[in-house]
Amino acid sequence: MFTTRAATVEDIKAITDIYNEAVLTTDATFDLEPKTEEEQRAWLDSHDSMHPVLMAEQDGAVIGWASLSEWSSRFAYVATAEISLYVKEEFRGKGAGRKLMEDIMREGERVGLHTVLARIVTGNAVSIHLHESVGFERVGIMREVGEKFGRTLDVLLMQRIY
Ligand SMILES: CC(C)(COP(=O)(O)OP(=O)(O)OC[C@H]1O[C@@H](n2cnc3c(N)ncnc32)[C@H](O)[C@@H]1OP(=O)(O)O)[C@@H](O)C(=O)NCCC(=O)NCCS
Repeated sequence: MFTTRAATVEDIKAITDIYNEAVLTTDATFDLEPKTEEEQRAWLDSHDSMHPVLMAEQDGAVIGWASLSEWSSRFAYVATAEISLYVKEEFRGKGAGRKLMEDIMREGERVGLHTVLARIVTGNAVSIHLHESVGFERVGIMREVGEKFGRTLDVLLMQRIY
């Protein structure tokens, strides 16, 4: 069974390791180089009370995380966030992503966000399915905006309004 809880500074290593696994092995993130723990610490620090970060655990061990991050520092975007979620490779396909998705979206509503955006590479059928299943709609496709592993990539922009 998967549980979630708020992230703390103690989770920096796990957040970094899980993210870097996705950087190096997937096109889910357009980062090409692994992040340092210092960079991820600054990233976590940038999340205030309106921008939750959740850790997923199984039997007390961290297996994934999800965040609602600031979409833009321009103030009119104050109630708009962008979602990210990552599950350790060996735990994917077992329901942890769904648990993280449902819990982080509930948190977003609780903290008073108005809308959540998602940028998803068009080949990521699992992520697109997961987002659609909790009410995200397709806004449009940004064509040929990324290059990773020798391929040019399109990105689907999705949105849920609370
Ligand atoms: C995307 C990710 C977070 C999903 O987490 P997960 O634990 O693997 O997902 P779950 O097992 O909870 O759910 C997978 C869902 O996708 C469905 N699914 C599996 N394969 C699928 C496919 N090929 N096409 C569509 N849906 C698929 C499953 O049936 C399940 O849906 P359901 O709950 O309605 O039955 C995880 O795979 C991951 O970390 N991937 C790499 C990073 C990533 O892509 N992050 C998202 C960036 S936008």
